[in-house]
Amino acid sequence: MTAEEQIPARIEELRALIEEHNKRYYQLDDPHITDAEYDRLMQELVSLEEAYPAFKTKASPTAQVGAAPAKTFTAAAHLSPMLSLDNAFSEAQISDFHERLKRMFEINDAIDYVVEPKLDGLGINLIYRQGELELGLTRGDGLRGEDVTANLKTIAALPRRLEQQRDFPAELEIRGEVIIFKEDFRKLNETRLQQGEPPFANPRNAAAGSLRQLDAAVTARRPLDIFFYALGSNSANSFPDQWSILQALAGWGFKVNPLVRRVQGIKGCIEFYRELNELRPTLPYEIDGMVIKVCSLDLQRRIGNLSRAPRWALACKFAAQQEKTKLEGINVQVGRTGILTPVAILKPVGVGGVVVSRASLHNEEEIRRKDIRIGDWVLLQRAGDVIPEVVQSLANLRDGSEIPFAMPDHCPECGSAVIRLEEEAAHRCINFSCPAQVRERLIHFASRNGMDIDGLGEGLITRLVESKLIGNPGDIYFLTREQLTRLDRMGSKSARNLIDAINRSKNPPLNKFLYALGIHHIGQQYSLVLARHFPTVSELMMATHNDLISLRGIGPEAAKAVVSFFQEPLNRRMLEKLAQAGVVALALPAPAPAGASLTGKNILFTGTMEKLTRPQAKILVEKAGGMVKESVSRNIDYLIAAANPGSKLQQARSLGITVLSEDDFLKLVGEKN
Ligand code: IVH
Repeated sequence: MTAEEQIPARIEELRALIEEHNKRYYQLDDPHITDAEYDRLMQELVSLEEAYPAFKTKASPTAQVGAAPAKTFTAAAHLSPMLSLDNAFSEAQISDFHERLKRMFEINDAIDYVVEPKLDGLGINLIYRQGELELGLTRGDGLRGEDVTANLKTIAALPRRLEQQRDFPAELEIRGEVIIFKEDFRKLNETRLQQGEPPFANPRNAAAGSLRQLDAAVTARRPLDIFFYALGSNSANSFPDQWSILQALAGWGFKVNPLVRRVQGIKGCIEFYRELNELRPTLPYEIDGMVIKVCSLDLQRRIGNLSRAPRWALACKFAAQQEKTKLEGINVQVGRTGILTPVAILKPVGVGGVVVSRASLHNEEEIRRKDIRIGDWVLLQRAGDVIPEVVQSLANLRDGSEIPFAMPDHCPECGSAVIRLEEEAAHRCINFSCPAQVRERLIHFASRNGMDIDGLGEGLITRLVESKLIGNPGDIYFLTREQLTRLDRMGSKSARNLIDAINRSKNPPLNKFLYALGIHHIGQQYSLVLARHFPTVSELMMATHNDLISLRGIGPEAAKAVVSFFQEPLNRRMLEKLAQAGVVALALPAPAPAGASLTGKNILFTGTMEKLTRPQAKILVEKAGGMVKESVSRNIDYLIAAANPGSKLQQARSLGITVLSEDDFLKLVGEKN
């Protein structure tokens, strides 16, 4: 068969698959594929039908909305159809949408659009008569939905009657999205796991499963919330535009999403798309994109609807945050405190905009709770800049070859015994000199948030430890160029650069030094608390348990860890060696006086400065009341761009952030020379 001859069969196959998945998603609340996989099937079908219009039919899922109401609920008709939305997956496709409207309807470039977050929940339709809620329906197939009135009435945020703030039509159809906030979702899943029930894959599934309960008492116990964004067409007739509809909704007492905005032209839409994508990880609820709506209702009517979706609106999707992939193995890693961490080795897959091939599985307990086996298909999630996570195993895809995992009883790195601490879920290698622990302590010591030794990363540290050139942090400062150049792949120039970087790291701010030591329980936050209180390491060494627990935030465990760290002879010897090498941590500057030049400002640096090292610059910023940040965001007030700036400069300009030179910066903090 030629490729051409296979087309009709593929189209039929796609339709059958999509219908099956529609049923699972809309009726059973138990999808077997990710949203991203579903979107790909749909996209393939859309492009095939466009390329071969002879095969188009009215019955195709590309021309339908959702799935018919489930038999378990009473079905009822919407007053006007509830349509779906067409999707765009890139900025280019968003522009195409506008160009198409321009071509077909002679609209001008500066028309008003309303842009709204695309909430990832489930759409519902409410019918009010004389201001009283009469019926609440799911979308169903767009014409008829399931009557879930009793369940909807359990949602506190849903008005049973309209507030009289504005006149309202006698019959009113109002549309919104039922969602669960991320924090509520986390708690809900925690409780479910405690009670031995399977967790929900995501807030959307949890919301749909909760609303479509036969017993409203179950729904009432679920933390459902709701935002509103549209009127049914009959009710909308008396309004001039989408913006005034949103205002009327708010006036009647309906929750309208605070991020909705009225913008000019497609440029305004694309700007909001970027902004919203950046905000996405910080929002308390999940969104999967942005919705664009032509603002004027006259224009909406002129543009009209297709069978499945209006032609005047568009869903602009963001990169999917969940994907399915294969768990190929589980490696056990030994950390700097000896804790054994199982790590999932995954078939590489793009999720949330990056390719992921590994994800921490935390501990054995977690693997057992989620019933994760080697060889499983798993659901992988990466939300914004959050670390990738295996959400669940997809047990229905097992073929019997999957192997349960057990924690080794000997350290995979040094062979020493592994103990399981009663009060912790963790397994721990008991050998303080375990090469993996030694290596990890050194990596932590040299890292960015620690001593920040440029060029001394994981790979090089591993080689240095293996060649027995270093064993503890003090050794780093006694490395010589000759020793380094004897290593494979180390030229004399790189050796010199490394020695320079090591020397430059000798005067870190005290908090970074304390953090670098890797004392149990002392992370970045506690290091700062300690450094603010004790100006030198020697003073901290003399502090008693009681001195320490009197500090804000420091609990008994952290206090005990600090005291025993400094009592340990090996650690004292290491500190002496660091002192011998000339490593002296700098006391933190006194808090900036109110009204200092950078009070409350966020500063970002890029490029290589001529007059200052980064740590020095950081101290100047802090003295002036500001904070140094690591990456570009809207919260940055000034970007200091020195020689050879990186990509941060471009990003900052595109966000309209003020860019200063090194000299400007020195003037600003009052250190002219
Ligand atoms: S308007 C005629 N606005 O996305 C337009 N829908 O993929 C109808 N959704 O069925 C929908 N946020 O359940 C609209 N701000 C928003 C939305 C939104 C989420 C959902 C809605 C719709 C689906 C289409």
